[in-house]
Amino acid sequence: MPNRRTFFRQLSAAAALPFALPDFSSPASFDLYNRLRTSLSPQQLAQDEDFWSWVKADFTVSPNLLNLNNGGVSPQPKTVQDAHIRFYQYSNEAPSYYMWRILDQGREALRAKLADLAGCSPEEVAINRNATEGLNTIIFGLDLKAGDEVVLTKQDYPNMMNAWKQREKRDGIKLVWLDLNLPSENEEELVRKYVSAFTGRTRVVHVTHLINWTGQIIPVRKIADIARKQGIEVICDGAHSFAHLDYKVPDLGCDYYATSLHKWLCAPFGSGMMYIRKEKIKNIWALLSNNEPDGPDIRKFESLGTRSFASEMAIGTAVDFHLAIGPARKFARLHYLKNYWAEKVRDVSGVKLHTSLKPEFAGALAVVSIDGLKGGDLESQLLNTYKIHTTPIVTGSISGVRVTPHVYTTPKDLDRLVAAITELAGKQKKS
Ligand SMILES: Cc1ncc(COP(=O)(O)O)c(C=O)c1O
Repeated sequence: MPNRRTFFRQLSAAAALPFALPDFSSPASFDLYNRLRTSLSPQQLAQDEDFWSWVKADFTVSPNLLNLNNGGVSPQPKTVQDAHIRFYQYSNEAPSYYMWRILDQGREALRAKLADLAGCSPEEVAINRNATEGLNTIIFGLDLKAGDEVVLTKQDYPNMMNAWKQREKRDGIKLVWLDLNLPSENEEELVRKYVSAFTGRTRVVHVTHLINWTGQIIPVRKIADIARKQGIEVICDGAHSFAHLDYKVPDLGCDYYATSLHKWLCAPFGSGMMYIRKEKIKNIWALLSNNEPDGPDIRKFESLGTRSFASEMAIGTAVDFHLAIGPARKFARLHYLKNYWAEKVRDVSGVKLHTSLKPEFAGALAVVSIDGLKGGDLESQLLNTYKIHTTPIVTGSISGVRVTPHVYTTPKDLDRLVAAITELAGKQKKS
């Protein structure tokens, strides 16, 4: 039997090519593999620190600065970084030859891989640079005329609200703003809020699947089912939910969807995906045009000009990494980590949580505040005193910080956060 040191050496060796089959000559790694695949439920595996230390070993994150803003953008595992660098160096041997003739041959295979992950047809998937690009393509690509109504909320992402405001200014469409009361554990009330804003002039409803401010999950499917029956088109902003919550895009019932892959999928920075229901593709004008901007082929949205094919092609490695963990296991771990810290601080005097702890209402993001301390001040004290990186959230009556762990975050890391919040809340009480 290997001792602890050889066991971990074997694990890190396996982690150099993570999730390739472990070396079965090692009883320990065979055991780990076996437990992962066969005997543990996602919820049980969520607490198996041996397994997650194996996952963590493939990340090159700082051992000192504790990054708890993975919601902003994720680090890539080493395998993804390596693929990116390899493709980049390869491209530099003769860029137009290697990028356009060699690497680009991977495009259709990558489209199929993303479609498989998203649960749709490859003919419904366009590869682009981020959710901003995908959603702007949809928002500016739809034919809308003056007086047409679009339902959206004050909790949607600012750049998407701005895109709609630009259409309002330019085309005279009418924006119908909802103000959601968050956090909410009342699905019916959320659905009612959207649906009661629909009128005979409503053409589009814009729904953010997972709200970046507080981590709230919006019941997109229920809203979409009602909207589509009324002939209202449904746009879903999936920037924060893809490869985070365990679902397939068609489950949402939307017509249009976009996400960033550099968030929860851990693909290279500047990689994204757009989905359009097949029969709707012809209704969206290409933002960056090609020879058939109103045609039915999803590839019309990929006339993006010269860009890094290395980062696009390395998306495939990120998909492999994600699938090796498994979407259900990943979500169970993220939920476990979120609740691990949140349950420890929620009863500390002066501390407030602004996110549900139930997995049907929120994902891994959660917002916490300390009475009397502004979000910006809490963020800077966590960073300057404790070297914990979070992001300030000031929205409505909430002024706190958003905390987002990822698959490489450990309970020990979160103990550091809990200790910091407890100490800061104590100091605030005395002051
Ligand atoms: C809800 C939501 N939509 C869209 C975006 C834009 O993502 P990106 O900057 O990757 O385009 C974000 C970014 O955080 C977001 O939270």
